[in-house]
Amino acid sequence: MEPLAPDKLPNHLAIIMDGNGRWAQQRMLKRIVGHQRGAETVKMVVEQASLLGIKYLTLFAFSSENWSRPAMEVRALMTLLKKYIIRETARMMRKNIRYNVIGNRGDLPDDVNLALEDAIRETAGNTGMVLTLALSYGGRQELSSAAVRMARDVAAGLLRPEDVTVDVFGGYLDTGGLPDPDFLIRTSGEMRISNFLLWQLAYTELYFTETNWPDFTINELHKALADFQSRERRFGMTSDQITKRT
Ligand code: IPE
Ligand code: IPE
Ligand code: MG
Repeated sequence: MEPLAPDKLPNHLAIIMDGNGRWAQQRMLKRIVGHQRGAETVKMVVEQASLLGIKYLTLFAFSSENWSRPAMEVRALMTLLKKYIIRETARMMRKNIRYNVIGNRGDLPDDVNLALEDAIRETAGNTGMVLTLALSYGGRQELSSAAVRMARDVAAGLLRPEDVTVDVFGGYLDTGGLPDPDFLIRTSGEMRISNFLLWQLAYTELYFTETNWPDFTINELHKALADFQSRERRFGMTSDQITKRT
């Protein structure tokens, strides 16, 4: 493996962790076994990202649309989530990682919310990587709720429509305070965004791999990050402008 340039890592890495179900089904196992194995990959990626000095890691763990799955799978995912949070908080403390959640927390079962609240409170003072879990999260839902909150502020006289800029609008999103992702990885070969961070991904570099999430390894993560480092991000400018700037 070629070494990664520490100064050219993504500041914010986002991941659509996909393919747990297929991983299990290919092995004649129940889908939930795939989710359990996927949780092991989460541990590895969190640890590696934090070791590499990545500042923000955002994981798509459960979408607004995932509520439509069979009730048994949803229940099993919620139980797994709760266990993961409770089990991993001590490690998050040791690694100075701060928990954050985006999405519609109100949809989650009470016990999951309690576990999340505890974990967020306990890790609130940590100054290392910010680990954001997207739970019951949908990009369109986030955008429309932000519009509602903004409209309320306008109606209350707290905000003038002419003062609404891209930054002001961005501040109303669940991710207000987080920088936009620099790099998005999606596993399992699907080439779509599936309602993840629609606003925030405007200029994110996208990376797709055929590997299912439970099979995603340190080497694969390294390969993806090396790919990111080879890219030229132009943000609408010309290549000449970018090379002269650095
Ligand atoms: C990703 O794996 C985990 C969640 C969406 C919760 P999937 O469960 O979507 O796995 P596939 O796509 O069915 O293989
Ligand atoms: C996206 O995966 C959501 C998560 C990874 C949590 P899905 O498996 O739900 O996406 P679609 O429905 O196949 O696009
Ligand atoms: Mg899937």
